[in-house]
Amino acid sequence: MSVENVAEILDQPRRIRDKIVTVDQLANIVRALKSSGKSVVQCHGTFDLLHPGHLRHLEAAHHEGDILIVTVTADEYVNKGPGRPIYNQQLRCEMLASLQFVGWVAVNSQLDAVSLIHKIQPNVYAKGQDYADVGQDVTGKIRLEVEAVEAHGGKFVMTNEITFSSTQLTNQHFDIYNPEMNEYLRRLRKNKSMTELFELIESVRDYRVVFIGDTILDEYRYVTVMGKSAKENIIATRQLSSDVFAGGVIAAANQTAAFCKEVEIITALGNDNAAELDIQHCLKPNVKLSPVFRNDSSTIRKIRFVEKEQTRKLFEVCHISDAPINQDVESDLLSLIHKKLADADMIIVTDFGHGLVTPTVVKALANQKKFLAVNAQANSANRGFNLITKYPRADYICINSDEARLAVSDRHSPLEVVVGRELASRIDCPKMIVTQGRRGSIVYSRGHEPTVLPAFADKVVDSMGAGDAVLAMTAPLVAAGGDMEAVGFIGNILGALNVKMVGQQSVEKASVIKGITALLR
Ligand SMILES: Nc1ncnc2c1ncn2[C@@H]1O[C@H](COP(=O)(O)OP(=O)(O)O)[C@@H](O)[C@H]1O
Ligand SMILES: [Mg+2]
Repeated sequence: MSVENVAEILDQPRRIRDKIVTVDQLANIVRALKSSGKSVVQCHGTFDLLHPGHLRHLEAAHHEGDILIVTVTADEYVNKGPGRPIYNQQLRCEMLASLQFVGWVAVNSQLDAVSLIHKIQPNVYAKGQDYADVGQDVTGKIRLEVEAVEAHGGKFVMTNEITFSSTQLTNQHFDIYNPEMNEYLRRLRKNKSMTELFELIESVRDYRVVFIGDTILDEYRYVTVMGKSAKENIIATRQLSSDVFAGGVIAAANQTAAFCKEVEIITALGNDNAAELDIQHCLKPNVKLSPVFRNDSSTIRKIRFVEKEQTRKLFEVCHISDAPINQDVESDLLSLIHKKLADADMIIVTDFGHGLVTPTVVKALANQKKFLAVNAQANSANRGFNLITKYPRADYICINSDEARLAVSDRHSPLEVVVGRELASRIDCPKMIVTQGRRGSIVYSRGHEPTVLPAFADKVVDSMGAGDAVLAMTAPLVAAGGDMEAVGFIGNILGALNVKMVGQQSVEKASVIKGITALLR
């Protein structure tokens, strides 16, 4: 858009829909405005349920320059709990665009505002007062935004108008949760402050965590279904693309690394070098890999054929040799464990039952003195053979309901009984979380009745690895002495965020903080 065009447009009465543009168009418009000497103010937010606090903020922001533009968070990144946003991004844009003092509106289709700011380069970036309180910037996001604004010579301002929180308004006046959820949240708000939860999360920041577990490469082959084969009773598909995620212990370690300073992974890799490269590539910067190598197989790879349109899994092929590691590899592993544990704060075991954690390794883990958190996974390759009860003791276990039932051979009793009586008497472990998918989780603390906690997700894209992510994030919190109801709540927030993403991607700390704020306000 040229300078004249922009100036011309501003002189005309404008239709609401003409004010709504893409981020790229907006960047061009801003460039034109700036070169014609106008000062551009940008506000960014969700703006779900526009209220007087928003109006005052936007109006005050407008006074900071000549033209006000507003960018809104795309629906998929609105991280304010179930049922939100109430209005989709198109409607939120329309509401904003209908305000007289709003010049242009665009949807930010990226997770954070930082790259958006680099693209738009406003003269002024304005935030409302609510960002000044409740430890909003524990995650340092606002600081990064301010840095981005200043990098292009812009100025950050905080408008000083009355504030309302749309989250608080929706929580209090809209029926976005079912009655049980409302009751649960009401009780939680009474017993736990947000600050207490933020402090718990911050208390594990400097932890050094050692992981032990099987490495799994999770490959997704995206296909489109063409139809039924003419000659066979099978579905014929066409491959579109593929993706590899480092899963198993690697994904779990990356998740912990979003909350703790240093993470080290002890694992076994196979005799294929390519896998190690794939894995190194996926590690967060604060995660270190210390592998032992087994010569009898390649690194475990699970290939899933996924119907792309709806992210539906059709079929799985595993490249796996799950025989126990041989004695040489085992003794390498034991000495590695011994060495790495010396200056660790805690150890997390993600045991997928693929041969790494032998009885001797279990014994070594149970006998060492550091805080021990364990998950022993039931999956198609090991069903019934990899039970949590192979560990005589642990400080914390986090398994799913199926794994809990298999471990105590009880298919039908209520899960509270399975957890609080049967499992508690079979393994020496004071704290447990048993997750149950869309039904949330049960938390147990020795000496107390198990408590059922609800799940928060309203959109599930891929639930693979959700339980591992919950273990990875909650284990340090338990080690830090966190109260189990608080830990379980944070775990379910993480679970809800995890199932929204495809494959093994980790949830950022900022998203968890936002989730807590959204639900507890
Ligand atoms: N379908 C779902 N709907 C809502 N939340 C889910 C769903 N699946 C998983 N979660 C969340 O993730 C957590 C762990 O998932 P779960 O499926 O129980 O573990 P696993 O991946 O080990 O089987 C749950 O406690 C819940 O918070
Ligand atoms: Mg699991």
